[in-house]
Amino acid sequence: MAELGVILLAAGQGTRMKSALPKVLHPLGGKPLLLHALGSAQRLCPALVAVIIGHGAEAVRQAYSGNDVAWLVQEPQLGTGHAVLCAKDAFRDFHGDVLILSGDVPLIRESTLRALVERHRSKQAAVTLLTALLAKPQGYGRILRSDDGMICGIVEEKDATTAEQQINEVNAGVYVASTRFLFAALSCVKNDNQQQEYYLPDVVAVGLAQGKAIETLCVEDAREMMGVNTREELAFMEKSLREAINRKWMLAGVTLKDPDTTYIDESVTIGKDTVIGPNTQLRGKTVIGERCQIDGSAFLTDMEIGDEVQLKFSVVMAGSRVDNGAIVGPFAQLRPGTHLGRNVHIGNFVEAKAAHIGEGTKASHLTYLGDVTIGRDTNIGAGTITCNYDGFQKYQSKIGDRVQVGSDTTLIAPVTLGDDVYVATASTVRHDVPDGALVFNPREENVRAGWTEQKRRQMKGRKK
Ligand code: UD1
Ligand code: MG
Repeated sequence: MAELGVILLAAGQGTRMKSALPKVLHPLGGKPLLLHALGSAQRLCPALVAVIIGHGAEAVRQAYSGNDVAWLVQEPQLGTGHAVLCAKDAFRDFHGDVLILSGDVPLIRESTLRALVERHRSKQAAVTLLTALLAKPQGYGRILRSDDGMICGIVEEKDATTAEQQINEVNAGVYVASTRFLFAALSCVKNDNQQQEYYLPDVVAVGLAQGKAIETLCVEDAREMMGVNTREELAFMEKSLREAINRKWMLAGVTLKDPDTTYIDESVTIGKDTVIGPNTQLRGKTVIGERCQIDGSAFLTDMEIGDEVQLKFSVVMAGSRVDNGAIVGPFAQLRPGTHLGRNVHIGNFVEAKAAHIGEGTKASHLTYLGDVTIGRDTNIGAGTITCNYDGFQKYQSKIGDRVQVGSDTTLIAPVTLGDDVYVATASTVRHDVPDGALVFNPREENVRAGWTEQKRRQMKGRKK
């Protein structure tokens, strides 16, 4: 079987986005538009992949971490046909078929691409293009057919007559072509059109004039070929993608109490019987175990959450790990590098950063735990602060197992509290404390009987 190559068009500015960011870098479902189309193409295991870049070339190239792609620069950008021509040298020794995709058509499915390649090969066509029937075809190139139903041309909307604009069959912008035909045909394409651009769809006219076979495949679900040209279209697509992702997780046994306000990135995974409340955003590489309960208003990025974890209302978490049975929130924040062991409780207004907290330990209220390692079954009292920063450098604190940290404690890092230490309420701990010791700051406590009454009398009449 002939080899398959891929050319992905991503050099355009995306003028209609009205953005400083190149269009193909606008995120959809948590990753740049470009990576959606590239991912679908790569699942066909192509022998050669070329991405045509131009606008914001360096930034676009950096969005992809692999090294199995040839990045070709199109400068200036003179249209989609001109863009494909930029790959001519890269495809010099390539004799197979080439699949052409647009970086701004992100929902295209691998199965559709396979079907397109199959149709092309079985019909031995010069070009096979994907089409779609749209109730609102505005913005797309229209497919012209002769009376016998054969394709006889493609006209861009800007060049179309009023009658042609009524046509509902559109060019999806996805093509398979024989490499030899493609590059030869492109050198015949002119830019005598409204936009004065070299249009890739014009290779169809070249092929027809040469009596070549031009084939089409009409996609069943038109949503997958929709292009992103405006922010409105991006929002629409984000919504369709989100609905599809939410549906997938519900079918897999996850309860979403309000799918309309649940945002799950494509790269997230969720275990069975987990229940997710309203206004939850699960971002990046977040992994959630089974039977977890997320009350709602949760914003999780790159989190690893075990089984039977409970996230109470309103938590923000990133780059951290939470083991089975832990309870976090309401109103808590886990910043990157944190690890909560099994059955840890983190309560309201607690912030943890690079904190390693052992099994069964609790920090229930109003606390900052930064750059700290805490053992198991320790209790951190309300208002405990690890003072990890002196304005110049960060320092580590260590707290052992079964420690009782009294409320309103400040731990001046670097400092180590051994196992079974008891920190009296309102202590400032500056020095290491050995296992089993009590630490407290001696302070005189004074009580003056009748003081309030005396003060009030003294102040009487002074109020303005
Ligand atoms: C294109 C098709 C249109 C089709 C539609 C489907 C042309 C002339 N028209 O229109 O028939 O219905 O896609 O979505 O091809 N690009 C470059 N270099 C350029 C110009 C564009 O790399 O010089 C890239 C863009 O980055 C984009 C893709 O090609 O990824 C398509 O360009 P765009 O301007 O969006 O074309 P459409 O007007 O959508
Ligand atoms: Mg487009």
